Amino acid sequence: MSRGQRVPQGLVDQPDLTPAAVQAKGWAMNILLVGSGGREHALAWKIAASPLVGRLVTAPGNPGIAALCETRPIKVTDVEALVALAQEIAADLVVVGPESALERGLADRLAELGIPCFGPTQAAAQLETSKAFTKDFTARHNIPTAAYGVFEAAGPAKAFLDGFTAPYVVKADGLAAGKGVVIAESRAEAEAAIDDMLGGRFGQAGARVVIEEFMTGEEASLFALSDGQAAMLFGVAQDHKRAFDGDRGPNTGGMGTYSPTPILTPALMAEAEQKMIAPTVAGMAAEGHPYRGVLYAGLMLTPTGPKLVEYNARFGDPECQVLMLRLKSDLVPYLLAVATGTLDQLPAPQWHDEAAICVVLAAPGYPDAPVTGSVITGLEQDFGPDVAIFHAGTERAADGSLRAAGGRVVNVCARGVDLTEARAKAYDAVAKIDWPEGFHRTDIGWRAL
Ligand code: AMP
Ligand code: GLY
Repeated sequence: MSRGQRVPQGLVDQPDLTPAAVQAKGWAMNILLVGSGGREHALAWKIAASPLVGRLVTAPGNPGIAALCETRPIKVTDVEALVALAQEIAADLVVVGPESALERGLADRLAELGIPCFGPTQAAAQLETSKAFTKDFTARHNIPTAAYGVFEAAGPAKAFLDGFTAPYVVKADGLAAGKGVVIAESRAEAEAAIDDMLGGRFGQAGARVVIEEFMTGEEASLFALSDGQAAMLFGVAQDHKRAFDGDRGPNTGGMGTYSPTPILTPALMAEAEQKMIAPTVAGMAAEGHPYRGVLYAGLMLTPTGPKLVEYNARFGDPECQVLMLRLKSDLVPYLLAVATGTLDQLPAPQWHDEAAICVVLAAPGYPDAPVTGSVITGLEQDFGPDVAIFHAGTERAADGSLRAAGGRVVNVCARGVDLTEARAKAYDAVAKIDWPEGFHRTDIGWRAL
């Protein structure tokens, strides 16, 4: 990447943010990307490929990201150090991967300094960080979702269960590392979950519980960009949350994804945009928390139409990986337009017609107690043009070897003319990686095949 001129201040007023127009002006952006997972490796891969970028720095990054750009060892929750880094590199744009940075107010601090940020403020990120906030918001704006109640005391929460039959859905209000949702098969189990959460198992995140109607149907992830006013659909994917084949085992952060998802038809996407995304973006703006970033809607395709399961204030991981593989357009103009309120000036993104798939290689014991430290080899070989390997939880040991350093460790992604071909390419690549301790699902994409 060559250094060009800095992007001028006042870019906000520039009508034409297309890559060709920006490049013609000789601009070269400085971008700070925040995060360290497979999602951020995929984002760094796509951002680094943009002709608009002069300098890309990722904090903290990972060994895979370090092969693409500069990295700095700053925690995603260290807001002040991240802000200082953004200033140091004269960032034209900060792209925030994980919700933990948003929850701590990184976007708010950057806004105070006038640094464009892709990622919502603390208040807007409540769409992810508070399930009670989101359920009340959906009620105020007539967004289709499960019936619910919010409680701070166990007695009324348990009494509210009377209105439902098993399975019962009990959720901690706040972020609980993916463990805050209990689908209880019996009343006793539901009541125990209520006691557990209100009893302090998740600290402040469990100070309130949400009890919900149980919805049935297939789940899919829908993504939309918003700059606070305008919204634009930005891809679909389907995740596999359970740890083991056949959707068995504990819930995880996601063991694999594919895109597109035949079940989410254009008509259903349009319905979700009209009934969920548009009123959410308008409602957040009207309530004084304009939403700037990517809105990730977890949908349940119920017999009575799509309903919202939850919102996240970030790209899904590993949904982002397949979206980046399929995105034909340059990502950077979209990130910048979201951060500067100019999304209405961009056309809808273009996607490759091919299907993309991501298979997660996880450490033994994931998700409950991942065992880290085992050596992984073979990631650096040439897997061919249609395969991308993203690091999700690796570290470079002192002896130069690559080791497992997290629960989800490596993402093996591939593109093919259809899902069958993409899947064959991905599993061929998985077979070439030498990591006997790791495990993965062998049935990613089964629903669509
Ligand atoms: P959440 O963290 O809210 O997305 O919940 C995690 C998972 O629990 C979802 O992906 C669904 O599989 C399931 N789930 C959450 N809420 C409901 C609900 N109201 N009905 C049925 N399943 C649910
Ligand atoms: N893959 C699910 C998530 O990112 O929340």
